[in-house]
Amino acid sequence: MQKKIDEIEKSIDEAVKDVQSSKTLQEIKMRFLGKTGEISALMKNMRDIPPEERPSMGKILNALRQWTEEKFSALEQKLKEFELKRKYAEEKIDVTLPGKSTENGAYHPNTLIKNELISVFSGMGFEVFEGPEIENDYYNFTALNTPSDHPARDMQDTFYLSNDLLLRTQTSAGQIRVMENKKPPIKILSPGKVYRSDDDATHSPMFSQMEGLVVDKGITLCDLKGMLDEFARKIFGDNVKTRLRPSYFPFTEPSVEVDVSCFECGGKGCRLCKGTGWIEVLGAGMVNRHVLAGCGVDPDIYSGFAFGMGIERIAMLKYGINNMKLLFEGDVRFLKQFKG
Ligand code: DAH
Repeated sequence: MQKKIDEIEKSIDEAVKDVQSSKTLQEIKMRFLGKTGEISALMKNMRDIPPEERPSMGKILNALRQWTEEKFSALEQKLKEFELKRKYAEEKIDVTLPGKSTENGAYHPNTLIKNELISVFSGMGFEVFEGPEIENDYYNFTALNTPSDHPARDMQDTFYLSNDLLLRTQTSAGQIRVMENKKPPIKILSPGKVYRSDDDATHSPMFSQMEGLVVDKGITLCDLKGMLDEFARKIFGDNVKTRLRPSYFPFTEPSVEVDVSCFECGGKGCRLCKGTGWIEVLGAGMVNRHVLAGCGVDPDIYSGFAFGMGIERIAMLKYGINNMKLLFEGDVRFLKQFKG
């Protein structure tokens, strides 16, 4: 029996010699102390031992079990400490290491201008309304006082999707939708993409416009001029003035072309303003009576002004961009320069 016990002790020592994890240790423990383990088997065999030998055998076996249990619990303790140390070592964070940085993107110049315009005009009480890019002939032309035989249609080369549907050529189409759905006072700003079959250094088949519409009792051209002055100062600088030149749009009467004094040379004349001291920035006018009436707004009670500008044009002027294509190519080297 003593031989058997010695063997077990030896095999325990052998088994735990290289144990590295408490999980393996637990498995080994079960091999000896588990219900079907080797020591438990010896305990069970007590039955077959003659009764007079039982007490001394029991003592020996108990001692073996105690020795084994103590050995395992000491080892368990050691392994736990070791594992904890290893875990701490693995999870150690070196706070002195330099952080990983990801490069931030930049807003597209169009977005910058659009946001700036929205901020300037919403400061004057304008609300944003975005109309659909696919329009029908009525909203894009007819309701804007441009019937199908009207020569002004030639001003805008239109992409037709069907006889009636088209890609809107101007955000002015949104004016009609607003006036049909809202009673005056109206004060809306309508940014969005527009499409024209046009492509050269200063034109793109898709570009963006910002439209504005104000309708109320007693609105005059003076209100338009005052608002434009404020807009020009906020966007181009404090000393910038505006001037109105007569023009023609079917949906406004009178119609004007709006220039700002050159913010580059202060009006003396330079390359940017082509020596004139003025830069054309937008079209505007008093909303034509026919347009108001067509939307159910009584032109004898209400009047209004409207304006529309090209966002790319403003971006090019403001940031000194000389080729419109740069705004559509998505070249990161160009876009990076607009990081705030
Ligand atoms: N829709 C015009 C264009 O695309 C711009 C414009 C001119 C808009 C005068 C207006 C306006 O609202 O009153 O050329």
